[in-house]
Amino acid sequence: MTNNEDKLKKIISHAKEYGFVFQSSEIYDGLSAVYDYAQNGVELKKNIRNHWWKAMVQMNENIVGIDSAIFMHPTIWKASGHVDAFNDPLIDNKDSKKRYRADVLVEDYLAKIEAKINKEVEKAEKRYGDSFNKEEFLNTNQRVLANKEKMAEISARLYGSLEKNDLDDVKALIEELEIACPLSGSKNWTEVKQFNLMFATQMGSTAEGASEIYLRPETAQGIFVNYLNVQKTGRMKIPFGIAQTGKAFRNEIVARQFIFRMREFEQMEMQFFVRPGEEMKWYDYWKAERMVWHLSLGMSAENYRFHDHEKLAHYANAAADIEFNFPMGFKELEGIHSRTDFDLKAHEKYTGKKLRYFDPELNESYVPYVIETSIGLDRMFLALFSAAYNEETLEDGSERVVLNLPAVLAPYKAAILPLMKKDGLPEKAREIMAELQEDFMCQYEEKDAIGKRYRRQDAIGTPFCITIDHDSIADNTVTIRDRDTMKQERVSIKDLREIIAKKIRNKA
Ligand code: GAP
Repeated sequence: MTNNEDKLKKIISHAKEYGFVFQSSEIYDGLSAVYDYAQNGVELKKNIRNHWWKAMVQMNENIVGIDSAIFMHPTIWKASGHVDAFNDPLIDNKDSKKRYRADVLVEDYLAKIEAKINKEVEKAEKRYGDSFNKEEFLNTNQRVLANKEKMAEISARLYGSLEKNDLDDVKALIEELEIACPLSGSKNWTEVKQFNLMFATQMGSTAEGASEIYLRPETAQGIFVNYLNVQKTGRMKIPFGIAQTGKAFRNEIVARQFIFRMREFEQMEMQFFVRPGEEMKWYDYWKAERMVWHLSLGMSAENYRFHDHEKLAHYANAAADIEFNFPMGFKELEGIHSRTDFDLKAHEKYTGKKLRYFDPELNESYVPYVIETSIGLDRMFLALFSAAYNEETLEDGSERVVLNLPAVLAPYKAAILPLMKKDGLPEKAREIMAELQEDFMCQYEEKDAIGKRYRRQDAIGTPFCITIDHDSIADNTVTIRDRDTMKQERVSIKDLREIIAKKIRNKA
């Protein structure tokens, strides 16, 4: 097992053991790629959602929110291109009967070549020490250059063939690269076929009267079809944005890697409506803004990188991902897309209704261009959870697992812990609890030795443990323990609210 697989396994088991994420329908042996958020997970997830909403809606006068329905008129998905083009190429292995995404098989092959390049870099770094120049090495080492060229050739062929829908060539590429089924080692593949990712269901009570509708595969279309209503009722002037968070559904062929790729997940999306011709300025603006948001959460900048798309989705004229260093390596966390006027024009065409904006400054009407920011809430959860998960050996040799979550997102902000269950300490602790829980999620715990209780709070990421002892009764002070430094301070009970508020204040 690689270190990466090992880390993901630890995260999955920690998420279960400490009440963050459970497999859906677990007592029925689970439902593949569907997960439930448990008592601590639901708090973390809600805090991420609220933090995003604050940054996008509360802090921007020209962005408002909506909450559109999951079910929408089925023609919307025809207009958006999802009925015809929201496909993944699938391939089956005839021996293992396992199904794969053909492009992912090739991408995994590319990742192996990239791993080889990284190994070369690591070896050279060790050999040359401080005098090592990574950039120069990457641009001059013959083995690295040969591998880079090979990667470029394979990518160009894969994405070129997918673009042309030449699925025979995608299969030929898999065969030429001698890619084997990871499960059985067999190279006995079926043809590559396109598979639509939308879930369909019936709306209406009788078979004849029922019509087929889809569970939305993205929240964005709910924004597009409401854009003019919002613009008019909110008297919005371009440039303006509409944000929403909500469930999306995709029948992913290969659903794996825990909550990274799910069949039911949540998106946080914002469509920003701009003048045609100004889209690249706003595209750059939102790329930069979204990265600032991520970095403000205090996780190391090395965990993030941009990936500019070569293969563009059917609706985009520019697109980039913010990738995060997940336990499985760098993968897409958020997408920033310049969607042109594709969606609004398509809805005009299918409805016969004008979706134009009258620009009073230009004295003309036009269909706005759109910049989209789209982040998976579950993916953000996984990014935070995996970066925050740390195993530490303490000075006395003991071990602790701590979630160094940004305080603003932690499920509980404080734990209220009476040192003993007697001498009036629980009563005093209850008073503090009653006072603080008005403003913060707090947990009251009096069972087990104090060290054990600290460990439990570390494991769920509680930034503060407040301990009530005999002195607390005498002088109205308590100790407050910081999760990250484990340092304890004696403070006055009346200052607790301000101390916690200061720590969790995080500019969104
Ligand atoms: N409206 C644009 C759109 O939906 P996307 O790149 O397909 O674009 C946006 O999805 C984000 O949604 C991704 O960056 C990812 O964070 C999240 N996402 C997509 N598919 C997902 C899945 N199956 N499970 C979890 N998150 C997913």
